[in-house]
Amino acid sequence: MRERVEHIRAQFRDEVRQVADMAALARVRDRYLGRKGGLITQLVKELGALPPEERPTIGRLINELKEEAEAALERLRVQLEEQAEAERFERERVDITLPGLRPLFGAPHPITLIRQRIEDIFVSMGYAVESGPEVETSYYNFDALNIPPGHPAREAQDTFYLSEDLALRTQTSTVQIRALERRRPPLRIIAPGKVFRRDTPDPTHNPMFFQVEGLALDREITMGDLKGTLQEFVRRMFGPQVRTRFRPSYFPFTEPSAEVDFSCFVCRGEGCRVCKGAGWIELGGCGMVHPRVLRGAGVDPEEFTGFAFGLGLDRMVALMYGLEDIRLLYENDLRFLEQFGF
Ligand code: DAH
Repeated sequence: MRERVEHIRAQFRDEVRQVADMAALARVRDRYLGRKGGLITQLVKELGALPPEERPTIGRLINELKEEAEAALERLRVQLEEQAEAERFERERVDITLPGLRPLFGAPHPITLIRQRIEDIFVSMGYAVESGPEVETSYYNFDALNIPPGHPAREAQDTFYLSEDLALRTQTSTVQIRALERRRPPLRIIAPGKVFRRDTPDPTHNPMFFQVEGLALDREITMGDLKGTLQEFVRRMFGPQVRTRFRPSYFPFTEPSAEVDFSCFVCRGEGCRVCKGAGWIELGGCGMVHPRVLRGAGVDPEEFTGFAFGLGLDRMVALMYGLEDIRLLYENDLRFLEQFGF
C-alpha cells in the first residue's frame, strides 16, 4: 500500500509539471481527485479495508498526498490565471505615446466672419437683419425697383434667366421690396446675401458674389442721415480715422443717388497698394428711396422718406484679409479656408 501511495505521488508530481493550460489542469485534477475514480480518492476509500494497525500511518500518508495534490493544483490554477491575464494585457496594450489623429474642425468662412461683423454694427444701430429668395421674379428684381422694361440691367447678357420671368437675383435690392411686404415703416433693415451676374471670373469678379443691402424709412429722414449712417459704419468697420466721400450717381430706385467711397484705412488717403494709389476705396451705391418705389410698395412718400444702400461684401473681405483675388473665396480650397479660425 505504501508503495502505491508513493508511486501515485511520483506520478502526480510528474504530470503536474507538464500542465500548461486550464484544460490540462482540469484533467489532472479529475484523474487524481475526481469524486469517482480519482486515483487519490480511490486510495482514501480503500483505507477502510486495511488492517486497523496500518490505518493511522497509511491514513496520514494518503492525507498528506491529498493535501499536497490540492495545494499544488490550486497554486497552479492561480499561476495559470495570472499568466492568462498578463497575456491579455499584453495583447490589448495601447501605445499612448502615439500621436493622435487630429480631428478636422470646420472654421467659419471669411465671408461669414465679415458679414457677422457688419451685422453686429448695424444691429447695434437698431437695424434688423432680413433676407429674401435668390431666385426672383422680374417684379422684385426690376419692376418694383423702377427699372423700366428694356433697361440694360435686364439684359440676358448680364442676368441668369431661368425662364422668361424668373432669374437669379442680380442685386439684394429685391429684399427692400420683400421687407416692405412684411413690415410697415418706420423700419430699418439690412439684407446680406448672394447675387448673381454673368461676369467672366477674374481677380475682382465672380458670377456669384455678396452684397449687403440697407433700407431705412421713417418720417423726415434726410440725405444727412444716410451720410451719417455710412460714415459711422466705415468708422466702426475700418477705424476711427476713416472718412467717406459721396459722388453723384444714378440708380433707378433712388433719387438722388450716390456712390460712396471711404478713405483708405492703410494709407489714410495718401495712395498705396491697397487702394491702388487712389487713396479711396469704393463701398457701394446709395441714395434716397425713389417715391415711385415707395408708392409701388404701398408707402406714402409724403409721409415716409428714407435711404437705401447696397454695399459690396466681397471687396470688404478682400481688403480685410489682403486677398489679391476674390475667386479664392469661392474655390473651397482647404489650404486657404483653414487659415480662418474662430
Ligand atoms: N443694387 C445696386 C447694385 O447692385 C446697389 C445699390 C445702389 C443699392 C443704390 C441700393 C441703392 O440700395 O440705393 O449695383
